[in-house]
Amino acid sequence: MEMQQKTLRRAHISSVGRFLPEKRLTNKELEKMIDTSDEWIVTRTGIRERRILEPGLGNSYMAVRAARDCLERAGVAPEAVDTIIVATVTPDMFFPSTACLVQRDIGAIKAWGFDLSAGCSGFVFALTTAAQFVESGRYDRVLVIGSDVMSSIIDYTDRATCVLFGDAAGAVLIEPCPENDFGIIDFVQRCDGSGEPHLHMKAGGSRKPASMETVKNREHYVYQEGAQVFKVAVTQMADVTVEILRKNNLTGSDVSFLLPHQANLRIIKACADRAGIPMEKVVVNIDRFANTTAATIPLCLYDIVVEDKRVKKGDYLVMSAFGAGYTWGSVLVRWWEDW
Ligand code: ACO
Repeated sequence: MEMQQKTLRRAHISSVGRFLPEKRLTNKELEKMIDTSDEWIVTRTGIRERRILEPGLGNSYMAVRAARDCLERAGVAPEAVDTIIVATVTPDMFFPSTACLVQRDIGAIKAWGFDLSAGCSGFVFALTTAAQFVESGRYDRVLVIGSDVMSSIIDYTDRATCVLFGDAAGAVLIEPCPENDFGIIDFVQRCDGSGEPHLHMKAGGSRKPASMETVKNREHYVYQEGAQVFKVAVTQMADVTVEILRKNNLTGSDVSFLLPHQANLRIIKACADRAGIPMEKVVVNIDRFANTTAATIPLCLYDIVVEDKRVKKGDYLVMSAFGAGYTWGSVLVRWWEDW
């Protein structure tokens, strides 16, 4: 007998918020710091500037502000939040989790929560995790935050990596969807630890704790073999985007918006092309914010939902990401209400 998967209820994104640090670091300013050019950065990546958080503030400073922005927009009190998931690779500290600090600072007195580490796929993984809690009927309000202070783990003498990243936080609220045909419809997610040698942080973890030597050797920064990561990212991000559409009997022309992780404009274009989604349906803000790791997709969502109010009820949104691990995935959303 065929097993029928029964969805008791669906989860949907009921609100969006963000926090952007005020300080802008432009390509022109980077030209004064390292051997690079605005022309190289724009043509190879699509990035023009990135935001940088004031040193000493930490991830929770941004995560709390994005969370407050999201909850205020929803008209939901912090006391009503059940769960907080913070996707990040740059927590304030190893422990406690950034989710605990957010819980305390926003006053989410009945919430529990945790941090989720999946590099640039962190938001997508956290979103689908939150959706399971809501779909199961266990919780009604899950706050998902993607927040990264990449400037705290970037070596500003490594020109191949430092030009790529910025700081920001984005947040969404996940609640039960009033109708079962809308909301977070499906997802495809993967990880492959054989990516470790090509994208990682060498020291500071339990395998190689911090020492005078690790600091001297600059081992507390993002180590990335850019060209190697690029090759895999292009293929895998496109593959899951195509897979989620096929699995749901959709084509690129059914999609209203592709919200891709913003690592490189060339990766974004290749992914959209493979999925048959024209660039006018692709949300791009890499020029303004660069790669903010777990924050890129909620920042894209903020652009189209809050700022431009372009998303209408019934629109299909596809969110696709690729990051350290390797990790990658695609989420299909059918938007519930006009904004
Ligand atoms: N300015 C000028 N020249 C530079 C710079 C720079 N900032 N950086 C590198 N170059 C030079 C290199 O030294 C090299 O010179 P050479 O040919 O004389 O050796 C040349 O430019 C080409 O270097 P490549 O690394 O081959 O350049 P590429 O076209 O691959 O672009 C980039 C580099 C932008 C990093 C690209 O590889 C990329 O986007 N990779 C994927 C990043 C990604 O998706 N990461 C995953 C998410 S991150 C996360 O999860 C934390």
